[in-house]
Amino acid sequence: MLLIAATLIALSLLGAILLLGFSLHGVWLAWQGKRRRQGFALRVRACQWLSDDLLHLELASPWRLPLPRFAAGQFLTLLAQPEGERPLRRCYSLAAWQARPWHYQLCIKREPDGRMSNWLAEQVRPGLRLQVLAPAGHFHLQDGHGPELLLIAGGVGITPMRAMLQAWAERPLGRHVTLIYAGRDRAALAYHQEFVELAAQRADFRYCPALSRDPHAPPDWQGRLDAARLAAVLTGDCDVFLCAGQALLEHSLALLRDAGVAESRLHWEAFGAQALGAGSGTFALHWQDEALQYTGQPSLLHALHEQGVELPADCWGGHCGSCRVRCSGEVEWRQPPAGVLPAGQILACCCIPRAAVQLAPVD
Ligand code: FES
Repeated sequence: MLLIAATLIALSLLGAILLLGFSLHGVWLAWQGKRRRQGFALRVRACQWLSDDLLHLELASPWRLPLPRFAAGQFLTLLAQPEGERPLRRCYSLAAWQARPWHYQLCIKREPDGRMSNWLAEQVRPGLRLQVLAPAGHFHLQDGHGPELLLIAGGVGITPMRAMLQAWAERPLGRHVTLIYAGRDRAALAYHQEFVELAAQRADFRYCPALSRDPHAPPDWQGRLDAARLAAVLTGDCDVFLCAGQALLEHSLALLRDAGVAESRLHWEAFGAQALGAGSGTFALHWQDEALQYTGQPSLLHALHEQGVELPADCWGGHCGSCRVRCSGEVEWRQPPAGVLPAGQILACCCIPRAAVQLAPVD
């Protein structure tokens, strides 16, 4: 009798523990889902201007909790609500990598017309709370990449490369890495000294600045990226990562294709509002009930953002799908989408109109 009672009590206890476990797991999953959809708050832990227009930020949990993990090269989406204005949403590459992150680092360029970067420049101070979405993006290192990595960065495009270098330094997997960093002079290269020191410490890392206007730099650092400089570092089994503004990106891609690098080994990400170059034409643009205009912006997404429609946009490069909209009217694709879209839908970051267009959010 006693044995049966003890067994029943033990089973009840086990059931209660399992039930509690499932409930807690459900709450945890729901909380994670909410964090992914609506974002979560981070606190500015430190901020520093690296130059006149480059702001380095460190963000941490206000409750001193670990942060979601990410792959080196991914970006963080910042959300902001300036007073009296529409909400802002911008993506910035994470500028540092940790296997178990306790803080995130960003390096943000203040653009003359950048609403988020200017708002941040005015508001930023230690303790400021920022709402963010979890790290995301397809531009990142993977174990399947080849034994040689060539990273090419221009300007603030160094941020994902710095994170990739940190991930590689912790887990080199026998790879050799070369970083070509293009800029006007050494003062324009963020984190330059870090890369110099890393190259001095590691025989499997080569650092090659490409300086267009720095007559006092070492001779092999002087000059723009050209075919000869590329040939000196390219090997047959090389994956190439590029992050730069439009001009350097196109120039580098052309050199790499001429050098015979296969399309499947090229991984690139553009930055900056003009990454696609200006579009053309003037067309009526209807967003739900709002009558707007397209006037030659690089994409429909640029036109919407300029006119205050903060359509979600996590990559600006046709990868994430967050700018997907329903569209009626003729459009031109300026860059291909990374996947197949349902009929009647487009990625606003990839298209410009060729006639009056009507756009609406996807259901
Ligand atoms: S913003 Fe990512 S696909 Fe358009």
